[in-house]
Amino acid sequence: MRVRKAVIPVAGLGTRFLPATKAIPKEMLTIVDRPTIQYIVEEAVASGIEQIILVTSQGKSAIENHFDYDFQLETFLKAKNKFDLCEEVSHISNLIDIVSVRQKKPLGLGHAIWTTRNVVGNEPFAVLLGDDLVQSHKPCCQQMIDLFDDVQESIVAIQRVSKEQTRNYGIVEGEPAERPRTFKVERMVEKPAPGTTNSDMAIIGRYILRPEIFDILDKTTPGHGGEIQLTDALLALSRQRSMFAYEFEGTRFDAGDKLGYLKAIVAFGLRHTVLGGDFRRHLKEVAANL
Ligand code: UTP
Repeated sequence: MRVRKAVIPVAGLGTRFLPATKAIPKEMLTIVDRPTIQYIVEEAVASGIEQIILVTSQGKSAIENHFDYDFQLETFLKAKNKFDLCEEVSHISNLIDIVSVRQKKPLGLGHAIWTTRNVVGNEPFAVLLGDDLVQSHKPCCQQMIDLFDDVQESIVAIQRVSKEQTRNYGIVEGEPAERPRTFKVERMVEKPAPGTTNSDMAIIGRYILRPEIFDILDKTTPGHGGEIQLTDALLALSRQRSMFAYEFEGTRFDAGDKLGYLKAIVAFGLRHTVLGGDFRRHLKEVAANL
């Protein structure tokens, strides 16, 4: 089985980023020169994904519009001989086939994934969270698809976190598997209280899931925070068949968190082909005066 589709849930309320997210989806906040969500879609495209399924909610139409064809804008830019800008704008709408489904109530990430069941169908699919950015040589999603091609089982991406941070993540417990950076999942727990796990393997916003997850989500009841948790469904799936945790190569930024967002701007600003050099010099000046 081959991974062709990617689900990007963007239906959350973004309360950690209020007041900025009162009227603007957090996925539309800009990192250097493009919204966060565009980096995520570009990662999926670079990983060979053929269709993206956005899970949206009320107030998120700016995301759909960003990837839509804008006849008026393109005509205006051409009339002003701004062909480079026109090319950039039209490139976004031609990136990939995007469909969207609505999550009518914010009942949790597990519920958001469940709403895509009829569009995904009976095949494995990638999940990329709309506010989780990964900077890496090989796209994180591609790294995971390569592993899936080999193992044909569900995979969660993980990063190491400190003991104090485990309470903010879904945590995986497991043993090293044969392949590099790969672990066989034995147990998973959503946001464990300090001292209740010895593992430092935190799940981040990249997954490859087998379609069996939908039947499990059908029966998953609300868990931590009263939400239908993807982690609970993943634990059930890992009891039915093998599941792997993959320590991806790269750096991940939680752009849905204020500090994570600032770190992402610095990291992506430094790598920017046009602005990177000047930005680096500026940061050195700032650091010298701290
Ligand atoms: P978060 O945990 O970041 O929640 O969701 P949130 O509501 O977006 O933001 P905060 O915590 O209130 O600031 C992780 C991912 O799951 C999606 C979010 O859009 C985000 O990409 N999500 C979450 C949904 O699509 N639906 C939900 O009901 C919950």
